Amino acid sequence: MESQQIADNAAAVLAFDAVGKAYAAPSGEQRHVLHDVSFAAPAGRRIAIVGRSGSGKSTLLHLAAGIDVPTRGDVRVMGRSLAEMSETARTTLRRDHVGLVFQFFYLMPHLSVHDNVALPALIAGDKPRQFEPRVAQLLDRVGLSDRAHERVQKLSGGEMQRVAICRALLRRPHLLLADEPTGNLDDENGWRVMELMLSLVAEEGGTLIFVTHSREVSGLADEVWRLHSGVLSPHAEAEAPAAPQPS
Ligand SMILES: Nc1ncnc2c1ncn2[C@@H]1O[C@H](COP(=O)(O)OP(=O)(O)OP(=O)(O)O)[C@@H](O)[C@H]1O
Ligand SMILES: [Mg+2]
Repeated sequence: MESQQIADNAAAVLAFDAVGKAYAAPSGEQRHVLHDVSFAAPAGRRIAIVGRSGSGKSTLLHLAAGIDVPTRGDVRVMGRSLAEMSETARTTLRRDHVGLVFQFFYLMPHLSVHDNVALPALIAGDKPRQFEPRVAQLLDRVGLSDRAHERVQKLSGGEMQRVAICRALLRRPHLLLADEPTGNLDDENGWRVMELMLSLVAEEGGTLIFVTHSREVSGLADEVWRLHSGVLSPHAEAEAPAAPQPS
């Protein structure tokens, strides 16, 4: 049983082993955000993470990307322990295997659509003949080919989100992490962006982990996990919709 668990974890694109995360509150006390989170996400799986505001969803994605480090336990990406790696090695692993889509895009407003999408390849030192066809392919898939030379700051929120998704997918990451990718789009656009991201990831065999507040969007995933009080557990799809929170 234990050896099977170890084998499953080794094959996982992303694995958390008893991960805990605490931040120091201004009072000096430790604020525990994640408690003993363990999971293994295999190749090709599409997983939605749901949970209330402040439940630690973004924290979990930041730990998965190696942008933040756990207080306890270990995170492994492509079977490699982030705890055992230098910051430089973590950055290289992220550059080569992980795509990130943030809620607020973090695009370069003064650069063109094309240059924003191509940026990870330029930073990695890839050759234009390697990445230019991929930039063109992705922009075509998201319907932005004719906007390639416009500055990103002229685009709508939905168009910027599509640019951010292209940038994240440019180097064919094994793991795509998306934090509320539809968070500030209207329903129809949000739906289209999600379907696009899911199909692009599925076509290329990547693993997708995304955070969403939308029950409809989480329904597109193969699995839904819920964070509550720092604990991650499978989310029963049949569960009744959550009661509205008092404001
Ligand atoms: N760098 C930090 N320093 C201190 N506290 C932090 C830090 N980052 C996150 N936290 C705290 O950790 C908790 C979880 O934050 P997190 O951003 O992961 O929540 P979330 O589930 O993504 O919420 P939302 O749905 O609102 O985006 C919050 O109480 C937050 O204040
Ligand atoms: Mg968040």
